[in-house]
Amino acid sequence: MENIKIAPSVLSADFSAMGAAAEKLEKCGADWVHCDVMDGSFVPKITFGADMVAAIGRHTSLPLDVHLMIVHPEKHIETFAEAGASVITVHHEACGADLKNVLKRIAAAGVRAGAVINPETPLKEVYGCLDYCDMLLVMSVFPGLGGQKFIESVLPKVEEARKIFDGQGVFKDIEIDGGVGEQNVRRVKEAGANVIVAGSSVFGAADMKKAIENLRSL
Ligand code: DX5
Ligand code: ZN
Repeated sequence: MENIKIAPSVLSADFSAMGAAAEKLEKCGADWVHCDVMDGSFVPKITFGADMVAAIGRHTSLPLDVHLMIVHPEKHIETFAEAGASVITVHHEACGADLKNVLKRIAAAGVRAGAVINPETPLKEVYGCLDYCDMLLVMSVFPGLGGQKFIESVLPKVEEARKIFDGQGVFKDIEIDGGVGEQNVRRVKEAGANVIVAGSSVFGAADMKKAIENLRSL
């Protein structure tokens, strides 16, 4: 798999020192900063909103990959665009039949658009939206918490999506999020994912630079 991008999740960073975390990620060779926005409704936890995304952006020039785990994401697209998001991903499970319109709205805001599917959601649920995606995010844990175990059974969806994009003659990013580390990154890439989110395996590593390098090269 070419075009590998490592997108560490600041969900596993020290929330009192987000700026420093973003600076460190950039220094250690990360490609994107993955920002997990949780609202206490779509998922039980509340993390942070657009002001934090903007604050992170003041400490790094890396693209901000904003993963919205919120209900009614359509209400907040422009706010996150103004906060400096490079990519905004929204859940099929939050948008339902409106997903296509929300993706269009993200694009209209000048931001790359991504659809997200939870581990139990079949890819066919979003077939009709793939043309409107710059990226597909396949969750490999149930959204809401860092440090969970990787769910192997999502990999056929990654393979299927890569086949669909290849069949269309386009290269689109396929991102995988949850439980990814050195032990499984190779399989994830073989399946066709090229954007690797990693929270605990990067922030929990003794050597962050080495951890990012290994995720890229393995
Ligand atoms: C889970 C988040 C993930 C999470 C990944 O809801 O979307 O981005 O932070 O963390 P790890 O890599 O620890 O599973
Ligand atoms: Zn995420």
